[in-house]
Amino acid sequence: MTTLLAHAAPYGTPGGSTPRNDAPHVPVMLEECLDALRPSEGGWIVDATFGAGGHTAALLAAGAHVIAIDRDPSAAQRAASLDHPHLVFAQGDFRDMERLLAEHDVPAPMGVLMDLGVSSMQLDEGDRGFAFRHDGPLDMRMSASGPSAADLIAETSEADLAALLYRYGEERHSRRIARAIIAARNEAPITTTGRLADVVTAAYPPGPRSDHPARRTFQALRIVVNDELGALEEGLEAVARLLGVGGRVAVLAYHSLEDRIVKHFFKGSSRLTPLTKRPLTASEEEIARNPRARAAKLRVAEKVSS
Ligand SMILES: C[S@@+](CC[C@H](N)C(=O)[O-])C[C@H]1O[C@@H](n2cnc3c(N)ncnc32)[C@H](O)[C@@H]1O
Repeated sequence: MTTLLAHAAPYGTPGGSTPRNDAPHVPVMLEECLDALRPSEGGWIVDATFGAGGHTAALLAAGAHVIAIDRDPSAAQRAASLDHPHLVFAQGDFRDMERLLAEHDVPAPMGVLMDLGVSSMQLDEGDRGFAFRHDGPLDMRMSASGPSAADLIAETSEADLAALLYRYGEERHSRRIARAIIAARNEAPITTTGRLADVVTAAYPPGPRSDHPARRTFQALRIVVNDELGALEEGLEAVARLLGVGGRVAVLAYHSLEDRIVKHFFKGSSRLTPLTKRPLTASEEEIARNPRARAAKLRVAEKVSS
């Protein structure tokens, strides 16, 4: 493993915390996150994105007390199955972290982890509607409430659709795709991931591709349906207020829109100082084991003043 943070205490994966190969979601850059957060016996850490609990399990194994947050209602059961006396689970949005911690009488934490985006479970379950490779209802709601991606597609104008595909998917062919979606919607409502993926694929210009043509469209819709960037901005503000002085926040981002927000927030905050000039990335060995780690960018900051 390369040196992570010059002044971080050396910290390996604690015994027993190594994720199982059959885990539903393999935690990304686990050792680097532990290095950054320095979990200590009895100290409180917020895992703001519990998922399948891989990071939480490692933090608990290191002796930390963890409050785990997830907006996905199915995460509660996975947290309960860890059955750990030092784990508290709070279902909700991490933008409401202050309220969630207060409701559970959690003191100022010394670490916060945000592992952004969707989990492998959410992607793999076709009926959650996140994946262009699995046919299912066009849903994409992490919290299983509020308007779905099908609602968004049904109600958005062509110009607004093109703008959101460009902005949140960084999709170069946004206008052409929006036009095709509106034409398809006029024939029959688009209610499945399979149909949307087919419409986008057919609209894509021919030529060599390194990627599935619908990937950026799905990313854009998912970001809007879950207001992911708004939640990230508010979540970071909450973290900067909540953290104890000397505490650290570690954020794993998976695309440039998220990473840019984290980078600028850390730079501009009077309460935080960035510890990572450039984001840390996963080792080749980890990427070979877990291809999802390829896109990960880890940034870490420390709270320096209240
Ligand atoms: C990449 S996964 C986390 C995986 C986890 N670190 C693990 O090791 O299993 C992201 C999780 O964060 C949740 N999530 C995303 N945005 C959220 C938000 N604003 N508030 C709360 N949870 C959120 C998702 O529902 C998903 O379960």
